[in-house]
Amino acid sequence: MVQPVGILLVSICLLHSLFSLQEEDYYAPTMDSVISKPEIEDGECVFPFWYRNEIFYDCVTFNAKHKWCSLNKTFQGYWKYCSLSDYAQCAFPFWFRRMIYWDCTEDGEVFGKKWCSLTPNFNKDHIWKYCM
Ligand SMILES: *[C@@H]1O[C@H](CO)[C@@H](O)[C@H](O)[C@H]1NC(C)=O
Repeated sequence: MVQPVGILLVSICLLHSLFSLQEEDYYAPTMDSVISKPEIEDGECVFPFWYRNEIFYDCVTFNAKHKWCSLNKTFQGYWKYCSLSDYAQCAFPFWFRRMIYWDCTEDGEVFGKKWCSLTPNFNKDHIWKYCM
């Protein structure tokens, strides 16, 4: 049985990869827009952050080999590569449909993989990631 929200999650996924492809193919930031300043290794990722007029709720790849994040709410050339602890954290508790979740859930996910919301209100924001 395919659940509507599962489809929604999958479409968001597809849209997202489509978008990333496009970004990489057509709007690839030159290395200097990302690496305009040296990495600040002990910096703290700021989520969400704005980069090239898009908002990001987790570390991004773009043209760089490894995922990185911005250290300012709007990217200002300060950045770092993401280590495991830098990735966006689940926003517990979060609201999904009519329930409050305090842990990752398989609810509404077609493939039965656990996911969580990255903002307290999934119903409104639809920002999520798979749990490890
Ligand atoms: C951006 O973040 C860097 C690193 O944390 C900080 O040094 C800088 O002051 C911030 N810029 C602004 C305008 O807040």
